Amino acid sequence: MIVSHDSRYSVEVLRPPGVLAIVALAAPVFAQSECAGCHPDQSARHAQTRHANALRVAASTAFARALPDRPIGEARGGFLLSYRNAGKSISVSAEREGETARAEIAWVFGAGDQGETPVARAGNRWIEHRISYYKKAGRFDLTLGHKPGPSHSAEAAVGIEQPHATIRACFGCHATVDEKIELIEPGVRCQRCHPGAAAHARNRSTAVGNPARLTAREQVELCSECHRMTPPGAADDPLNIRFQPLRLVKSRCYESGRLGCTMCHPAHQDAVRANATFYRDRCVSCHAKPHRDGDCAACHMPKSSPAPYLTFTDHLIRVP
Ligand code: HEC
Ligand code: HEC
Ligand code: HEC
Ligand code: HEC
Ligand code: HEC
Ligand code: HEC
Ligand code: HEC
Repeated sequence: MIVSHDSRYSVEVLRPPGVLAIVALAAPVFAQSECAGCHPDQSARHAQTRHANALRVAASTAFARALPDRPIGEARGGFLLSYRNAGKSISVSAEREGETARAEIAWVFGAGDQGETPVARAGNRWIEHRISYYKKAGRFDLTLGHKPGPSHSAEAAVGIEQPHATIRACFGCHATVDEKIELIEPGVRCQRCHPGAAAHARNRSTAVGNPARLTAREQVELCSECHRMTPPGAADDPLNIRFQPLRLVKSRCYESGRLGCTMCHPAHQDAVRANATFYRDRCVSCHAKPHRDGDCAACHMPKSSPAPYLTFTDHLIRVP
């Protein structure tokens, strides 16, 4: 039952093994507003990042804003998907010749740079929605991994039903969860990288984790909790280039024992884009006399697009 959906206070309760319900708390458990008073710079910068926006209430996303007035149709002979704004959520229905299925979209995954994918709910069932929005291309299309063509049922046209464990994992990486994974706040919040932060916010003399004090390896492990060291599927899946830790640790540069993620990605900001000098400066801090000048990363960390609309940078630094 949705009691409140104020983005500061709404909290998803994922109670294993049964129902995932939405409840509101009187006081947020993780509110990063608890940090802003004493750490205004880090808080203001982090709020602009994709980490902070990795999960959002449906109504605040480009997916919601771009929805057309007319239904979105599957391929010829398929279902029509209609959307209706319902406060902070969106109702979706799939229809074909009297066959209908409905679901509520409360959450949309993805900060919007690559894709925005709704996760819908119908009763106790959680469904990865069939349609995603791709902002750079400015269009709706199938969610990665969903088969093209007409669906075999109205339920299938809404999307793929996912087990609760899978849905819990989605929230686990795109939100901030408590120890029991019962309470979540949308987005990757301070606590995810600074363990002990909640207690420190109440009593600032309490120690709080700071990745600056981790070794490069420990730090890569921290980021791997979500960016992944082990692929979820086959080892030779071309999509694996999206898992930066998995690729980075195979680099000879990593053998130096000094190459952590934050060497190239300063804390509290998105990846620096289209800036060859920024990355070259990082390379030459170790390769003092490079064989040539230019865009080191373009040759040694090439980009590729293993799936439609998605582009990633191969973090296996190597001789091309
Ligand atoms: C009442 C003020 C206050 C609040 C609230 C507060 N902090 Fe701090 N925090 C401090 C002070 C002061 C320091 C510096 C302590 C030091 O350097 O010894 C600090 C240090 C830190 C450090 C660096 C620790 C280190 O050892 O390097 C981190 C990380 C941090 N805070 C995160 C947070 C987060 C995340 C929150 C919110 C959950 C938060 N703080 C809330 C006052 C606060
Ligand atoms: C709790 C899970 C989680 C952890 C821990 C985490 N990330 Fe992320 N990170 C994400 C998600 C999810 C996104 C994608 C947000 C989006 O675009 O939807 C992301 C996005 C990013 C981006 C932005 C990419 C861009 O397009 O600009 C960078 C850079 C990044 N992470 C680096 C790191 C580093 C470095 C660490 C470790 C210090 C780290 N992350 C730890 C989940 C996490
Ligand atoms: C192990 C952690 C993890 C899990 C589990 C996870 N994600 Fe992500 N997700 C990420 C990270 C990290 C990114 C950042 C983009 C990147 O570099 O791949 C991301 C990116 C995304 C994006 C942005 C577009 C894209 O593909 O890059 C969407 C949408 C998304 N995830 C949806 C989901 C959904 C839906 C689920 C559950 C079915 C899910 N994610 C499960 C970590 C995770
Ligand atoms: C994705 C991981 C991540 C998240 C989320 C994150 N931080 Fe950090 N934070 C870091 C890293 C990495 C460092 C160490 C930077 C370095 O190497 O010097 C750091 C350092 C800090 C420090 C020490 C001073 C400084 O700027 O280096 C403070 C204070 C801090 N973070 C506060 C916050 C607050 C407040 C939030 C939430 C608004 C937050 N952090 C969210 C990764 C994160
Ligand atoms: C923390 C130090 C460090 C950084 C930063 C670094 N490297 Fe390296 N790199 C090394 C070490 C150590 C080796 C092992 C061989 C050697 O000593 O030259 C290596 C090897 C390489 C190789 C040879 C790979 C092979 O398979 O033989 C290439 C190419 C390379 N680096 C390119 C880069 C580029 C491009 C960057 C910046 C995007 C970069 N490196 C950043 C330390 C680093
Ligand atoms: C030697 C430098 C370097 C290191 C170390 C590094 N990255 Fe990157 N990263 C890059 C470059 C270059 C890009 C692409 C920037 C652009 O688009 O211009 C990038 C992009 C990204 C992106 C955006 C998605 C993509 O694939 O383009 C994410 C997320 C990311 N890095 C996460 C990480 C994580 C997590 C680590 C640690 C395991 C890490 N990076 C270590 C250089 C680095
Ligand atoms: C136009 C593409 C290109 C650019 C730009 C480029 N490299 Fe290379 N790099 C190569 C190729 C090809 C090789 C292997 C053959 C060779 O040595 O010329 C190589 C080899 C290397 C090696 C291993 C061999 C050696 O010389 O030790 C390192 C390290 C390296 N590059 C670092 C860098 C750095 C650092 C930069 C940026 C300052 C850079 N490269 C810019 C293409 C490039």
